[in-house]
Amino acid sequence: MADFLIAFGSQTGQAETIAKSLKEKAELVGLKPRLFALDENEKQFNLNEENLCAIVVSSTGDGDAPDNAARFVRRINRRTLADDFMKGLDYAILGLGDSNYSSYQTIPRKIDKQLAALGANRLFERGEADDQVGLELAVEPWIEQLFSVLRTRFDISEDRMNAVTEAAQVKLNQVKTEDEKKELLLKRKADEEEDEEGVGGVSGVDMLTPEHYDYPEVSLLKGPPALANHANLQVPVAPQAFLVSSVSHKKLENPKTELKWQNSCKMPGVVTEPFEALVVAAEFVTDPFSTKIKTKRMITVDFGENAKNLQYEPGDAIYFCVPNPAAEVNFILKRCGVLPIADQLCELSIDKKTEKINAQLPGHVHKETTLRHVFTTCLDIRRAPGRPLIRVLAESTSDVAEKRRLLELCSAQGMKDFTEYVRQPGLSLADMLFAFPNVKPPVDRLIELLPRLIPRPYSMSSYESRRARLVYSEMEFPVSEGRRHSRKGLATDWLNSLRVGDKVEVLGKEPARFRLPPLGQPKNNAGKLPLLMVGPGTGVSVFLSFLHFLAKLKRESPESFIDVPRILFFGCRDVTVDGIYMNELHGFVKDGILTDLIICESEQKGERVQDGLKKNLDKVLPFLTPSSESKIFICGDAKGMSKDVWQCFADIVAADQNIADLEAKKTLMNLKKTDQYIEDVWG
Ligand SMILES: Cc1cc2nc3c(=O)[nH]c(=O)nc-3n(C[C@H](O)[C@H](O)[C@H](O)COP(=O)(O)OP(=O)(O)OC[C@H]3O[C@@H](n4cnc5c(N)ncnc54)[C@H](O)[C@@H]3O)c2cc1C
Ligand SMILES: Cc1cc2nc3c(=O)[nH]c(=O)nc-3n(C[C@H](O)[C@H](O)[C@H](O)COP(=O)(O)O)c2cc1C
Repeated sequence: MADFLIAFGSQTGQAETIAKSLKEKAELVGLKPRLFALDENEKQFNLNEENLCAIVVSSTGDGDAPDNAARFVRRINRRTLADDFMKGLDYAILGLGDSNYSSYQTIPRKIDKQLAALGANRLFERGEADDQVGLELAVEPWIEQLFSVLRTRFDISEDRMNAVTEAAQVKLNQVKTEDEKKELLLKRKADEEEDEEGVGGVSGVDMLTPEHYDYPEVSLLKGPPALANHANLQVPVAPQAFLVSSVSHKKLENPKTELKWQNSCKMPGVVTEPFEALVVAAEFVTDPFSTKIKTKRMITVDFGENAKNLQYEPGDAIYFCVPNPAAEVNFILKRCGVLPIADQLCELSIDKKTEKINAQLPGHVHKETTLRHVFTTCLDIRRAPGRPLIRVLAESTSDVAEKRRLLELCSAQGMKDFTEYVRQPGLSLADMLFAFPNVKPPVDRLIELLPRLIPRPYSMSSYESRRARLVYSEMEFPVSEGRRHSRKGLATDWLNSLRVGDKVEVLGKEPARFRLPPLGQPKNNAGKLPLLMVGPGTGVSVFLSFLHFLAKLKRESPESFIDVPRILFFGCRDVTVDGIYMNELHGFVKDGILTDLIICESEQKGERVQDGLKKNLDKVLPFLTPSSESKIFICGDAKGMSKDVWQCFADIVAADQNIADLEAKKTLMNLKKTDQYIEDVWG
């Protein structure tokens, strides 16, 4: 009784977080759900024997299943399964995706369709949460629908149901007089100045400080009148506390070497233990002072003896274990009031008084550690705080106006504000703490609620056994939209700091479909495949590994290398400014590895890769007829590109075959299904 299954498939942790909070909510109303990754099917549970299951799943790669759901997707698609294999199962499914990808929601749709085909009963329409507009907009209504089903099914009383939300008691009119408002403003200013002073009694510490930002009248700090005056805000109950940290006087001398990365906790998509690599080259490949383009830098690492840990193929990427910046960690720890003890031995355990069912320490933190270590290497302090965390921040301020606004932001009525002022601008925890200077969160609550810091993958642009080379493009987020410190992307900032001789920790990444030769084909096949490669920006990087591999193949077994079209479309703004790997690429043309190098310059000639494709129909069209031989590979660093290039190919097919757009997209979809059209797009 009261038992049901919650299953997730999650690559970067969002679906897992939603599934976990679903479990917590269900427990609050007296249910006893079990929570597993979808790939635990046939191990921890058998979906065909379950009565009720809520599934939260994303897509990754090019409409691929997350690595902890891939096996499940394969298993439920076996031809041998009977039409009523899942009969008896009631399910609800929530998909996470990003509508900027041409394979939007592919996996949730696929699972939904297949479960229904196997006789399972869909309880209500699949939810589609879109990262582009803010996941919460679809997540919350879906959870509401699910709970209305659970309520009837398990006969949950209204009282119990009310345990999930509560009416916020804090009203703005409690701080309404002009004098009080003035006083508050002065207090806020003084608090901010204290943040700017930075050191908080700890000298010589690198400390993040806020930059000046004028919040508009309606902003993160203040909602529109309808929300600000709402008398009956419905806010989620604060997540149950369950963890305690106790810090001793002992210092942990060198946690970095004493503690294994993230407690050796398994991570989807990672196939090796972390191992050390040495930076042997690091150079800018574009002008770092140019304001016109994103700075690009090339790094080469040597795996040394560890090379045996990693057998990489052209198209593969490696993960870098990226730490959080010291100044930001210091700022957060200072706010929590624990900076002076951040380097002492800290023991984490489950609070014996917790009411949370089956409370467990997050697997990615050590039981014995230091707070600095936890916040530097284990927790994601950059991802925009979710509503449960905002709820806890609301509990952690002494300022009634701050509390009210934070409650608004996590309330049912404040969903639009949350999306607009927190999620979309990608505010970090530090941004929130700057905006609400009286919030002093308990450090234990942050360890409970901050998501796991995930390593960042980079495609290799080389093909050597011991070394890997990569090019990255610097991400920049200026002060605006509520962000109080201009920052670079977490990984790209850290990569910027690397110098020759530095040691870094890397992890092997599960091979994806984007590789040469395709998975399951013998290596020598690669030399026989006609290739159409589309790689704007740093997207070209991965094709360098293809081309180096082909050059080696041609040298070492010329009989396997035959003359077929190998065409590369490279897109940049101005080849003299951000044309990367140009000498190598021209060398490949000269050596007969590439048959065509087509460069599309947006600034000089107003040409994007899509224009290049349309201009070269004679070369492109042969790739668009179904064939087991040829391959179209698209790799890029902007999510929007996925959709644009997809549309461009659809236009080409539609015009060539004189068919409608929808029909043309069906043709393309078939090419995708057979892996003739493969994308790898990140953004
Ligand atoms: C298989 C694969 C291969 C890859 N290969 C390469 C490669 O060869 N070269 C390369 O440069 N990159 C590559 N990437 C991307 C790379 O892994 C990183 O995602 C990228 O470098 C950014 O990382 P970061 O930590 O610097 O940025 P982050 O700190 O993670 O910030 C970037 C992301 O955070 C979100 N975000 C953060 N702040 C904001 C904000 N203010 N407003 C809106 N959104 C915000 C956005 O989603 C944004 O995309 C690859 C990715 C994959 C999946
Ligand atoms: C490398 C990468 C590839 C992605 N591919 C797709 C895709 O093909 N289709 C889609 O709908 N969303 C895609 N997404 C968006 C994710 O599904 C979305 O961000 C989701 O919230 C991630 O959830 P997760 O953290 O649980 O994996 C992709 C995201 C990344 C980073």
